[in-house]
Amino acid sequence: MASVTLRRLSKSFDRTSQPALQELTLEVRDGEFLVLLGPSGCGKTTALRCIAGLDEPTDGQIMIGERDVTHLAPAARDVAMVFQNYALYPHLTVRENIAFALEMRRVPQAQITRRVLETAERLGLRALLDRRPAQLSGGQRQRVALGRAIVREPQVFLFDEPLSNLDATLRPEMRGELLKLHRQLRATMIYVTHDQVEAMTMGQRIAVLHEGRLRQLGTPAELYERPADVFVARFVGHPGMNVLQGRGTRKRERTRAVECGSLALPVALPQYDGEVQLGVRPEHVALCPPDQGAGNADVLVVEPLGSETLVHLDAGGQPLVAKVAGIARVAVGDRVGVQPDLARLHFFDGSGARLA
Ligand SMILES: Nc1ncnc2c1ncn2[C@@H]1O[C@H](COP(=O)(O)OP(=O)(O)O)[C@@H](O)[C@H]1O
Ligand SMILES: [Mg+2]
Repeated sequence: MASVTLRRLSKSFDRTSQPALQELTLEVRDGEFLVLLGPSGCGKTTALRCIAGLDEPTDGQIMIGERDVTHLAPAARDVAMVFQNYALYPHLTVRENIAFALEMRRVPQAQITRRVLETAERLGLRALLDRRPAQLSGGQRQRVALGRAIVREPQVFLFDEPLSNLDATLRPEMRGELLKLHRQLRATMIYVTHDQVEAMTMGQRIAVLHEGRLRQLGTPAELYERPADVFVARFVGHPGMNVLQGRGTRKRERTRAVECGSLALPVALPQYDGEVQLGVRPEHVALCPPDQGAGNADVLVVEPLGSETLVHLDAGGQPLVAKVAGIARVAVGDRVGVQPDLARLHFFDGSGARLA
């Protein structure tokens, strides 16, 4: 077991384009399941490849436990990576694929046989040991890729979007299995995904990356309840947070309000007379009859999902989504009243940073 520490890790592939990683500083705790979350191209794979030693960072330091591994060969790092495309050897059987890394290390044959069997048992692959990858389903291939990592008993596991090639129905099951594996092995695991649902359901903590930079590091609850900026606010949640452009206004002597499009919200703000961005999650926006809420809005799109309905609104020129329970009795073109939960508003400055 070991912590993984990244200190101002930067990576540029060439001089002309933006760096893939920019001064990424992050400590993954010993035995933690940490998710690296961000949109495609934000540098997730690059970060993992640098930790694994497959890419050389341009700058910065990587520590595993007390060891500086920045310039060590991949094999010397005691790290196993599971790739997005599984990277199985097509001409080798399941048994040979799982055994491969141990064979390379010249582990004694008896030990290889025992560890391969144990791993296959753990992953439900016992009956498939003599098949080749082409004879396996996607889920089974996924397990073999996992098996190749587990059998090495590494200190640190790196997962690069390992479930993205699986059917949607298989994914929740595999998520559960991976977490079970984490509990059993007590290893440090860094799990990369662009899927915020996966991140929220799996991560003990989540590091949100955007354009090679760390935007926020926190528990799922912290990201949901106190997003550090507009990017995280919009990225986390299903759907993400509404962010409206507003103005703080002074009304009478002490009352303060924020006006956004057709909404007027009686809230006190630290910077109450400037431009603000107001965030409110769709699940914290209630609908009511016209003129009975904070303002009125027009219904643009209705998405009934069964247990809930997403109602897309135009609030005086600003887009706003409300998530209401059950089947909402509204239709496109209706005018409705909108009432955001005033206790659950978020405020961001012009640059997108959270206001205290
Ligand atoms: N081998 C490479 N050569 C040049 N640019 C690369 C290479 N690998 C990644 N990049 C660039 O680095 C950025 C981050 O890529 P990547 O780490 O793969 O993102 P992610 O895994 O988050 O989708 C992207 O702009 C990508 O085009
Ligand atoms: Mg990637």
